[in-house]
Amino acid sequence: MAPWGATLKHAPETRRIRAERGTRAYMERADVVVIGAGAAGLMCAIEAGRRGRRVLVLEHARKAGNKIRMSGGGRCNFTNYHVGPEHYLCANPHFVKSALSRYTQWDFIALVERHGVAYHEREHGQLFCDESSKAILDLLLAECQAAGVRLHTRTEVDTVARTEAGFRVESGRGAVACTSLVVATGGLSIPSMGASPFGYRIAEQFGLAVHPPTAGLVPFTLQPEHKTLLAPLAGVSAEAQVQCGSQAFRGGVLFTHRGLSGPAMLQISSYWRPGAWLDVDWLPEHDLQAELHALRAVRAAVLLKTVLARHLPARAVPALLGVAGVDGALTERPLRTLAPRELTEVARALHGWRIQPAGTEGYRTAEVTLGGVDCDAVSSQTFEARDVAGLYFVGEVLDVAGWLGGYNFQWAWSSGWCAGQYV
Ligand code: FDA
Repeated sequence: MAPWGATLKHAPETRRIRAERGTRAYMERADVVVIGAGAAGLMCAIEAGRRGRRVLVLEHARKAGNKIRMSGGGRCNFTNYHVGPEHYLCANPHFVKSALSRYTQWDFIALVERHGVAYHEREHGQLFCDESSKAILDLLLAECQAAGVRLHTRTEVDTVARTEAGFRVESGRGAVACTSLVVATGGLSIPSMGASPFGYRIAEQFGLAVHPPTAGLVPFTLQPEHKTLLAPLAGVSAEAQVQCGSQAFRGGVLFTHRGLSGPAMLQISSYWRPGAWLDVDWLPEHDLQAELHALRAVRAAVLLKTVLARHLPARAVPALLGVAGVDGALTERPLRTLAPRELTEVARALHGWRIQPAGTEGYRTAEVTLGGVDCDAVSSQTFEARDVAGLYFVGEVLDVAGWLGGYNFQWAWSSGWCAGQYV
């Protein structure tokens, strides 16, 4: 924010605002007010500013783009080479199609390249900055400045009201009148970073339905008996296939002090509902039953744990068997002393491992919020509320949540860009 903040500090308009502050008759004016300086709000502001609209962005946090800054482990997974509607959860699965096809991952990649931001691809087409996620925030702020967008941080929006000409937005800085109001307040994850339910309240105020929000892309917590067995594995990870209902993901699973995390668990958490079971195949690439029975015939002296250590972290095996109700001490025995029935039992336990999580870690660590403003109440072309002219919703505040892998930022860019053409 530094260079841009400095520009704002000396802007004549800001001096005028200061001089007029306290004068009851004065009301700041803008064509467009955007609430929330996150990924979607900044993208929308840039596009509207480019069209010559006078844009004011109000952000209650100390800095713009907090989630961009902390994203992707500090490297911002800003998009993905393979973006499609199938990577999103939304009550109306068709809603995302239009925006994703009008402002694509290739458009954002071109923007990143124009700003000379170096990036690289990781598995599954995920694109990350080489250096720091701050590069993405800096490029958005530079684009905002070039488009003449004004940004006020540390400015909490308190109320919004309909007027004859548009909207009146009350914040800590006083009132602002605008013709278009863009709600880009995001979801509820990481409250310490500025997340608030304010966008949902605005939707409800204007009669739009809100799907109950819940935490997505979030680690699981465990029932006490499972926590006792698995918590000692904190830091250990393994590849697995994790399934909940008809949805399955293959990828890393990480044991934590509190429960289960890692990409596969985070992905499936968005499909999990309280009380549901997870089905985990710890050896999705192998047929363990066939392997154990074949080995028993030719290498009878080998210990079961030696065979299993080829596929799984040795420390994890007894605990995983324990959760499945199989005696972990079996792993200490040579194959010849194990009955075929016992080998089958071990193979079944690891291929068909089941666990019923106690819950999730919630918004404190969630990467995304499921639910939000009902997309059927909003145009998928313009992002304007169907029944409230001039009121727009973009980004995560809508009932759209992406998979892990850069899909959530792409949704923010696409929805923000599209709304920016109309506000
Ligand atoms: P976002 O939450 O970014 O912005 C909303 C803004 O509104 C905030 O700045 C907030 O302070 C402000 N606000 C709220 N209420 C307000 C009020 N009343 N007045 C004024 N301002 C208000 N996604 C991805 O694709 N790749 C990744 O690498 C990651 N990594 C990642 C890490 C972590 C830790 C988290 C929590 C999330 C991610 N995500 C991600 C998800 C991604 O960050 C998220 O989907 C987008 O930031 C959503 O963009 P929005 O602009 O919609 O909301």
